[in-house]
Amino acid sequence: MNIRKITLLLFTVFCIAGIRAADVTIQRSTLVGNGIVEFIPTGFDKNKTPSLILKEEPKSIGNVPAGWSLVPEFTVVNNKANAKLKISGDVSLYGGGEVTGPLLRNGQYIKLWNTDTGAYGVDGGKRLYQSHPWVMGVRRDGTAFGIIFDSSWKSELYSNSTEIAFNTEGALFRVYIIDRESPQEVLKGLAELTGTIQMPPMWSLGYHQCRFSYTPDSRVREVAETFRAKNIPCDVLWMDIDYMDGYRVFTFHPQNFPDPRALNDDLHKKGFKSVYMIDPGVKVDNNYSIYQSGKANDVWVKKPNGEEYHGKVWPGDCTFPDFTMPHARKWWAGLYKDFMATGIDGVWNDMNEPAVNDNELPENMRLGTMPYETPHRGGGDLPAGPHLLYHNAYGRLMVEASLDGIKAAQPEKRPFLLTRANLLGGQRYAATWTGDNWAGTEHMKLSVPMSLTLGLSGQPYSGPDIGGFLNNTSGELWAEWLGFGVFLPFVRGHACAGTNDKEPWAFGPEIEKTSRIALERRYRLLPFFYTLFYNSHKTGLPVMSPVFFANPKDLRLRTEEEAFLLGEDMLVVPSFAKNPTLPYGIWETVSLVNGDMQDKYQATLKVRGGSIIPAGKIIQNTTEKSFDPLTLIVCLNEQGKATGKLYTDAGEGWSFECGDYGLLTFTAERNGNVVNIRMSNKEGKRKIEKEIKTINAEVLLNGKVYKGTGSLKSGIKVTVN
Ligand code: NOJ
Repeated sequence: MNIRKITLLLFTVFCIAGIRAADVTIQRSTLVGNGIVEFIPTGFDKNKTPSLILKEEPKSIGNVPAGWSLVPEFTVVNNKANAKLKISGDVSLYGGGEVTGPLLRNGQYIKLWNTDTGAYGVDGGKRLYQSHPWVMGVRRDGTAFGIIFDSSWKSELYSNSTEIAFNTEGALFRVYIIDRESPQEVLKGLAELTGTIQMPPMWSLGYHQCRFSYTPDSRVREVAETFRAKNIPCDVLWMDIDYMDGYRVFTFHPQNFPDPRALNDDLHKKGFKSVYMIDPGVKVDNNYSIYQSGKANDVWVKKPNGEEYHGKVWPGDCTFPDFTMPHARKWWAGLYKDFMATGIDGVWNDMNEPAVNDNELPENMRLGTMPYETPHRGGGDLPAGPHLLYHNAYGRLMVEASLDGIKAAQPEKRPFLLTRANLLGGQRYAATWTGDNWAGTEHMKLSVPMSLTLGLSGQPYSGPDIGGFLNNTSGELWAEWLGFGVFLPFVRGHACAGTNDKEPWAFGPEIEKTSRIALERRYRLLPFFYTLFYNSHKTGLPVMSPVFFANPKDLRLRTEEEAFLLGEDMLVVPSFAKNPTLPYGIWETVSLVNGDMQDKYQATLKVRGGSIIPAGKIIQNTTEKSFDPLTLIVCLNEQGKATGKLYTDAGEGWSFECGDYGLLTFTAERNGNVVNIRMSNKEGKRKIEKEIKTINAEVLLNGKVYKGTGSLKSGIKVTVN
């Protein structure tokens, strides 16, 4: 059958089924950035599909460049808008945000409908907690493009070697296409449209220890003391829901957490920070001030008949703020003032898909969230619209409000906010983790492509529950997972209620030693991670990158998803990766901590020829100074040269925005048997010389390490042979 006959047949089938399909012309296409084109379909209406993804309304800067080939096709089928982009040639596809499955997305199908999905079990892992209507394509020659479908309507995304298709259950939407010379440049384009992460506080790059839940507060103190007694580095302890009074958000359990101020003070004295959970569901309870206040301020989501919408979460029946309303976001933000004043350092927003327990309904009627037609009232730039439109944006709007509240409560501090649900572009407000994984080898391995894909979708600050959340964890699994997990952007161990203890010492002395080594390696690399996060904050480039970023033209690397890169200069090969495909060229293995190379659970670390990695000393938490001495790990390229950067600032607060930072460039050059390493450039006003008095250099050459010492002023000379 030829194409015409198939089309005729499909048309007949559609007509018989009463489905009306119509092609939609493009009303306007315009250049809105370097290599970025906006496509607006005829009939598009901002009041039906508002943009919740872009950081601001893009402005036209000219006409679509001559020869531009990537043009989406819009259709409306039975009042539901779709778009697709035909692609030709051999293109490797990536993105889609939070997804299970492989890193390479050719032939993959996902549903965009934020879902509470324990062990990624719902719909066979085809929908998770977040929605990222975004795909990036990398051509054979290493040039790349990306497509944003600017819609939060319930939808599906399918990508294969001939097309990328996005089918929604809502109104027409805009499309943005970026076409640039490399995947890295495309990701910068994505960040130009959707924004970048906030510069995180230094402490948030350390190790986080969590459990559902550490309770009562004496258990929190005990965990804190054990970290310090055992000299296992850690920066943050987390309070899951049991710190609350009957799961009422913004309250503390009167017996188990009677004095949060004292608890937080004690943690601070020991060099810990604390993060507390806040869910969106507010217990329906006429004696509860937050419920009363929400009612008085008319912030609750209401049913079509005007009654409050109630859904069950941890506390039983709950109401939910309608975060589409500016006054509701303001009200919610205001709740953080007294809460943060107890000395809380960071906030964890969970269950914000929003997840609703409707297990009492027959299986075929369960939605796990609000009914699709539930109205949201909107306001400001957001029109009124049904849950079908706003569901995927609920978490994103919640974290916008939370972030405002946290910043207003602690204006002198950098916020740290973690969210489970989000939308493409939501990296502007919060970091994320990959939800309720399972303690097993499959999810351990999956945590690499999952975090990589988030990084390729605008969200660089992510990581899994290390060790696995659901199910008991064995010492082996814990050690193997932590061995590479310490090199993920967000490093947190977490455990579900009812599962075994999952702290670094919980699996016996051998695994405790392995855990200490792994965490010491993370802490030694903090100067490098901090520099990578700064770069990400500035440019949108990921902290953790796929191996193919080392050479986007090397087709062998396009599917590698066990090993990964930090920035582009350090390669991490997890101990489970038995036969990874690695980039060609000079890559020297580096040891960071005594015994790390002999420990079978530690990941292998390799440094790219031509680069310099800044490392600090082993510290127990980030209140200790890590930079003196600074170690520069140097790996020369074929020309005997190398370069690298170090970013440093106060680690907290906003003075860096007024120039109180140092961005140092180091260069190394070999002359005969001597490698000269020096600071070749310094940006920023910070007096780095006072903080870094000594610099050790380690030159990695042909499997050997050559060492030297010096200072920022004198530089370092290292003799090699
Ligand atoms: C679900 C979250 O995904 C999990 O991390 C948390 O421990 C539980 N909610 C309890 O708050």
